[in-house]
Amino acid sequence: GTVFGADAELAKKSTLEEILKRGELRVGFDAGYMPFEMTDKNGRYVGFDIDLAKEMAKAMGVKFVPVNTDFDGIIPALMTGKFDIIISGMTVTQQRNLQINFSDPYIVVGQSILLNKKLAGKIKSYKDLNNPKYTVVSRIGTTGEMAVKRYIPKAKYKSFDKEADGALEVLNGRADAFVYDFPFNVVFVAQHGEGKVVHLDKPFTYEPLAFGIRKGDPDFLNWLNNFLRQIKHDGRYERIYNKWMKG
Ligand code: ARG
Repeated sequence: GTVFGADAELAKKSTLEEILKRGELRVGFDAGYMPFEMTDKNGRYVGFDIDLAKEMAKAMGVKFVPVNTDFDGIIPALMTGKFDIIISGMTVTQQRNLQINFSDPYIVVGQSILLNKKLAGKIKSYKDLNNPKYTVVSRIGTTGEMAVKRYIPKAKYKSFDKEADGALEVLNGRADAFVYDFPFNVVFVAQHGEGKVVHLDKPFTYEPLAFGIRKGDPDFLNWLNNFLRQIKHDGRYERIYNKWMKG
């Protein structure tokens, strides 16, 4: 009823308040993106993002609640309130940022390439793949897919529902190259043994990864950015980083 909509403004609560009241931090992610979020032998979620999320919940004094969600629909799921925050190795893109807000980046990665062995020495960068005789694969809805469409438009493109299936397609010789976030490719090569695929490991895109939240929530955003700055300097971030990113 007021001229400036003050009632509506007052009624609008920060997600932070809801989390504290509920006693739970609900985190949306898509397990399968190594080493950020995976499912272990016992069905538990583990990884760099999972540890960051647990540290976050601990700092809030609430329980960590994982919400495994398909990456392709993770932004709509956030927007409709299925969870409080996306912690899923999500790259800040200008397009996504029109729909949601991002915290400051917690790590910077880029796209790299896994090549089928038979192309060793023949393909030196993404530019050499830009030819209809090559089949390039990635995962649907990711920046890997966007990078192929943008930088390798002449190659045949095939998308997969899971990143591991795309990488295996190259290992098995049904595709020539897999384009995906560098840290995933490092872990894939380590798991399947060096020499099974060729890793062109110089990232060719710039991709800050950040936490995603619903728009219009400066209180939550402020908390997240200060949390990040703090853990980056008090040893907590370093411990988690060394656990997952180093061999
Ligand atoms: N960084 C890439 C992107 O934002 C891939 C992230 C995939 N994350 C996942 N949990 N599967 O598109």
